[in-house]
Amino acid sequence: MDEQTRLKQQAAERALALVKPGMAVGLGSGSTATLWIKLLGEKVRTEGLEIRAIASSEDSEALGRSYGIPFTSFAETPTLDLTVDGADEVAPGLALIKGGGGKLLREKIVASASKRFVIVADGSKQVEKLGKFPLPVEVIQMAEPLVSRQLAELGFTPKIRINNDGSRYITDEGNLILDCSGVLMDNPQAIAAKLDAMVGVVEHGLFLGMATLALIAEPGGIVERTK
Ligand code: 5RP
Repeated sequence: MDEQTRLKQQAAERALALVKPGMAVGLGSGSTATLWIKLLGEKVRTEGLEIRAIASSEDSEALGRSYGIPFTSFAETPTLDLTVDGADEVAPGLALIKGGGGKLLREKIVASASKRFVIVADGSKQVEKLGKFPLPVEVIQMAEPLVSRQLAELGFTPKIRINNDGSRYITDEGNLILDCSGVLMDNPQAIAAKLDAMVGVVEHGLFLGMATLALIAEPGGIVERTK
């Protein structure tokens, strides 16, 4: 296991301690969330931990099911007790960029339904200002040229996300992702408001005022950040 994975594993282990029997739990996406789902799944499989879950991606749900984690729906369970997820950048105030794995829409839905939204990450994800990591913006395919122009007017350089085989990356909901570089954000709230108002934008990777705790794994131990 390389050093970064070891740190991610430590953050995932700390987050596991937050899960109590009977909880409704949100499962995030990405490599750090995957480590956490595996730990949680082991507890369900070997210790009979009773929980029910909603996942933020098809991959995370398939992984959870492989351990026997029972799944629920928002019709049955409109509020989750706890969601644990990764992040691409964590700035002061627990302002986040997410969506590096392309799952930002469902991740935001799951986070929005959670009483506690806990981020697990290694220290490399901490930044003073959001935006070095290109901001993922999920767009309706037909609207992409229109949205790309508006993003360029805001100073971004948007690039359609491409798979390794050269095809366009399509999200679980059938949309494109524009990875938007070039803007270090002094006022992410103002940018989020502009993105929220763009017709054709389904969702964006700015998660502001949503996280309640970040468990940041540094070589010297876990730092717990509440803002
Ligand atoms: C997926 C995400 C991930 O949580 C984010 O990309 C962090 O991933 P990792 O834990 O692999 O660094 O937002 O859409």
